[in-house]
Amino acid sequence: MSSAPLPLVPQPNRAARLTQPDFVLSADTAINAPAALLSSAQFLADRLATCTGWDFPVNAKPGETRIKFNHLSTLAPDGYQLIVAPQEILISAAAPSGAFYAVQTLLQLFPPAVFDAQPRPDLPWTAPCADIEDAPRFRWRGVMVDSSRYFQPLPALKKFIDVLAQHKINVFHWHLVDDQGWRIEIKKYPKLTEIGSKRRESPRGHMAVNLRNGQSLGGDGKPIEGFYTQDEVRELVAYAAARHVNILPEIEMPGHAQAAIAAYPELGLLAEAKPVSCKWGIHETLFNTKPETFAFLEDVLAEVVALFPFEYLHIGGDEAIKPQWENDVATQAHLKELGLKDEHELQSWFIRQAEAILQKHHRKLVGWDEILEGGLAETATVMSWRGLEGAIESAKHGNDAIMCPNPFVYFDHYQAEDWGTEPLGIGGNSPLAKVHGYEPIPAELTAEQAKHIIGVQGQLWTEYIATPSRLEFMAFPRVCALAEIAWCPQDRPDFAHFLTRLKTHLRRLDVQDVRYRAPLEYVQA
Ligand code: ACM
Repeated sequence: MSSAPLPLVPQPNRAARLTQPDFVLSADTAINAPAALLSSAQFLADRLATCTGWDFPVNAKPGETRIKFNHLSTLAPDGYQLIVAPQEILISAAAPSGAFYAVQTLLQLFPPAVFDAQPRPDLPWTAPCADIEDAPRFRWRGVMVDSSRYFQPLPALKKFIDVLAQHKINVFHWHLVDDQGWRIEIKKYPKLTEIGSKRRESPRGHMAVNLRNGQSLGGDGKPIEGFYTQDEVRELVAYAAARHVNILPEIEMPGHAQAAIAAYPELGLLAEAKPVSCKWGIHETLFNTKPETFAFLEDVLAEVVALFPFEYLHIGGDEAIKPQWENDVATQAHLKELGLKDEHELQSWFIRQAEAILQKHHRKLVGWDEILEGGLAETATVMSWRGLEGAIESAKHGNDAIMCPNPFVYFDHYQAEDWGTEPLGIGGNSPLAKVHGYEPIPAELTAEQAKHIIGVQGQLWTEYIATPSRLEFMAFPRVCALAEIAWCPQDRPDFAHFLTRLKTHLRRLDVQDVRYRAPLEYVQA
């Protein structure tokens, strides 16, 4: 028997090899499950049928060997027990999500070809005997994808969500709108996509070079257009739900709103609205604070809520610089009428209006950490991205927070120590070892305050990520490390241990044609 760790990512809380002959999957293996866990058993049956070419009807045949699901209500909802013996695999879980995570672990015990789209009946389909007990550390295990700067076709997003689910990631944060493109169909406001989903071109080179030297490289001359129809959104939401991934939609306000205002100039502050932006970076364009604008946002959010069943909705709130509010007479009069001190307080007032809209729909508000600046909305959950301070302040205030700090989990940053060896990126440096070493609970918090840190999330902003294969290059294997931070207990195995497991894990990504960045400085391919 091998003494190497089982090649599982993320590492389970407890995983022991047993000294017994391997379990051998065959065309005669039976799968049995109680009604409560049937969906996860069916997911397993479908995957095994795809990679072997054999049929595994659930609860429909006796077998020489068995995979048995057992409903055990004493376990945590996302937790599971998995025992692999020579004749029988036993999966115990309290809920479909726990059974689904057991299935993901079990798949990793089989050869990497278990993730193949082609049947391979010729392979030895064996799994080592093992005794595994597992449950996640954090309930929010997220990855954000920006579909505004560049957007990804639906099949690419499905593939991406498949791989997230294999890592037990359970939130896909979908950044759907920004200055450079509005990408979700809203029936009541067709110009959001007719106008807002199209831009003339994208910047060439790096924006900081353009800005610093005052020498613009100009645009690339390639129009970008596209959006997700409501049917496509529903399709992706259902696809993700079948993999226990919630989709968190983000509708930005009051800034990052230039595409929306290009479509409906009356929502903005300028006599002549700017077009959908063809530049990266922070923009001055803000929504105005008129009742008509909140009526618009109320309508938009009503359609968004109807598409996304997740209990949370993200309203952005980041990087809303205030010159347009400062220079607008009507906005200044409004600010005074509301009895507010400054534009930061006006932004907080704005966010509280959004909070009230969401409360009518029984949704909880999530925002970037700037929503703290003029006073935090009572029920808001804060995504701490500029560092740890946003999370610390929120948790001390009694609000929940999610750790997204850019020095550690911004996956648009470079992966190499030497940037020059990688394709153009936004800057910053988050190599795999740094990601894996990140501890999400800030040391400043008491145990009680730390309960407000509900999870951790990686970010993929796409200014320099124009294609799905580049998205995969930036995401993986850093998402594999993120999965360990999010899932494993605080005293998780170290980076060296992770690398011994990662080597096999990369074969799983290869089988699925995931275009990850080979971590050659750590493991030989
Ligand atoms: C952000 O990176 N602007 C949240």
